[in-house]
Amino acid sequence: MTQEVVALTLEDIMPLRVKVLRKDTPVTHCNYPEDTYEDVIHLGVKNESTVVGTSSWFRKECPDLVGEAALQLKGMAVDDSLQGSGIGVQIIAAGLALATERGVSIVWARARDSALGFYLRCGFAEIGPGYMDEPTGMPHHNVYRRI
Ligand SMILES: CC(C)(COP(=O)(O)OP(=O)(O)OC[C@H]1O[C@@H](n2cnc3c(N)ncnc32)[C@H](O)[C@@H]1OP(=O)(O)O)[C@@H](O)C(=O)NCCC(=O)NCCS
Repeated sequence: MTQEVVALTLEDIMPLRVKVLRKDTPVTHCNYPEDTYEDVIHLGVKNESTVVGTSSWFRKECPDLVGEAALQLKGMAVDDSLQGSGIGVQIIAAGLALATERGVSIVWARARDSALGFYLRCGFAEIGPGYMDEPTGMPHHNVYRRI
């Protein structure tokens, strides 16, 4: 199923972010400091009027690849009922197109270990040591992909 990936507002995406990414986590809100960045863009998918997929992209250096022009991907989430149906792959494709447009050389993310398979499937590679993410209390690795 091909879904159109569109730019959405922070207000549009917040309910899905909280629902998917703050399930049984120590921190219950899902506001990021980067949501205030001037260049942040929230790319997602709507089913009728409901947001069912979301992601946020902004210019930020990867700590493991200092000096490389980079976009960070944060807040990647697909509604539980539609996970595994290809929405995530389509959102990543739209983010990679954005990265090309913005002239950066890499995209990167702080990936939950439970989602590493998804990122590897999308052409990302792990970089750097694993760490515990505070808001979620979940093990993470940084992942990146060259443009
Ligand atoms: C991870 C997530 C964003 C992926 O989106 P999705 O729409 O479910 O993924 P897709 O359907 O596009 O899957 C693409 C491929 O990745 C695989 N995949 C998806 N999620 C996976 C996971 N958690 N672990 C391993 N593989 C996964 C799919 O099986 C599929 O493989 P295939 O093409 O060989 O069949 C989504 O499952 C999700 O929101 N999970 C919960 C929140 C989360 O972990 N977000 C990431 C935070 S870093």
